[in-house]
Amino acid sequence: MDLFEYQARDLFESYGVPVLAGITADTPDEVRAAAEKLGGVVVVKAQVKVGGRGKAGGVKVAKTPDEAFAAAESILGLDIKGHVVKRVMVAAGARIAQEFYFSVLLDRSNRTFLSMASVEGGMEIEILAVEKPEALARLQIDPLEGIDEAKALEIARAAGFPEELLGKISPVIARLWNVFKGEDATLVEVNPLVLTETGEIIALDGKITIDENAAFRHPNHHALEEAGDIDPLEAKAKASNLNYVKLDGEVGIIGNGAGLVMSTLDVVSYAGEKHGNVRPANFLDIGGGASAEVMAAGLDVILGDEQVKSVFVNVFGGITACDAVANGIVGALEKLGDTATKPLVVRLDGNNVVEGRQILADAAHPLVTVVDTMDEAADKAAELAYAAR
Ligand SMILES: Nc1ncnc2c1ncn2[C@@H]1O[C@H](COP(=O)(O)OP(=O)(O)OP(=O)(O)O)[C@@H](O)[C@H]1O
Ligand SMILES: [Mg+2]
Repeated sequence: MDLFEYQARDLFESYGVPVLAGITADTPDEVRAAAEKLGGVVVVKAQVKVGGRGKAGGVKVAKTPDEAFAAAESILGLDIKGHVVKRVMVAAGARIAQEFYFSVLLDRSNRTFLSMASVEGGMEIEILAVEKPEALARLQIDPLEGIDEAKALEIARAAGFPEELLGKISPVIARLWNVFKGEDATLVEVNPLVLTETGEIIALDGKITIDENAAFRHPNHHALEEAGDIDPLEAKAKASNLNYVKLDGEVGIIGNGAGLVMSTLDVVSYAGEKHGNVRPANFLDIGGGASAEVMAAGLDVILGDEQVKSVFVNVFGGITACDAVANGIVGALEKLGDTATKPLVVRLDGNNVVEGRQILADAAHPLVTVVDTMDEAADKAAELAYAAR
């Protein structure tokens, strides 16, 4: 989960990373009030979970509360790369002497953590990495040792910070590591980390990505998530503990096992080419134990998606055998009753497949079509979705 800048700012503050005062606001009037409260020059900043806000007109300096009001009017409602701005942060204005870059992230390919630092801030890091790779110091971080002050000093030296700044910058780097470790993040990025005209080091921007697998040990993360506007279907799926990702096609997909579901998305996309280019509407892995409850919860989420025109249930019976899955489907349809209105194509294979297909045949539900192979089932589901357009 990505956090908003204001959430990152607050976490930084709680770990002792120096930040400036910031107040969130949802209307131009609230922005004016926040600017009055902060006094002096402020910066009105769009709160969207996407980079490049400044270039898109989402970061504006305001010298007076009236200017802040005007800035808010132009920023609120702005579409930044598909993200509509609903909230801004009014931040105290910094007098910047120099801009730097620092990040620490999970480096999956090297199975470790990586810190990146540069004295060339302000520039987009992707561009810096390509155009001036020598200006970006990359150091691997041993997960067990982390970044203590000595390591922080090593990072700051490698990045080329001037000697006289090392003593100021390294404690900030060490604290940013504490944020990373303490919050179970996979990314903590500060761009820019600045030196002010009065000689202070301040994190002026913050990006944090949190590892949701660690949610169980961070009760505070739930509130961070609530503030975000996640897709209502994804929220509903999450409430039922389902592994669901909304896509934008018309064929709903349910399968057991992430690998099977991924390949189901592929075969449906392929089959869709012959049927008006219909595409998968979602990823949904109901996992090994496909009980009637889980199947009903999954179907309920998928049928709640207005874009869905047909559903493809693709199950390979393993530990949970096909007869249990078939009972799950029949039970789910009974549970859903009249709310189930879209055609279901079911492909069952694997353990106890004969019994499973028999159960579906006996139930003879008018919405259900049983198809033997995955390719044929994908074709049928795509055909039905296209016909219902
Ligand atoms: N509080 C502030 N005071 C003074 N200048 C600021 C302040 N916040 C941001 N700026 C200036 O605006 C620039 C852009 O701000 P910021 O880094 O927050 O947004 P961005 O880089 O455009 O967005 P993103 O990091 O999402 O790509 C900074 O590099 C800095 O020069
Ligand atoms: Mg930035």
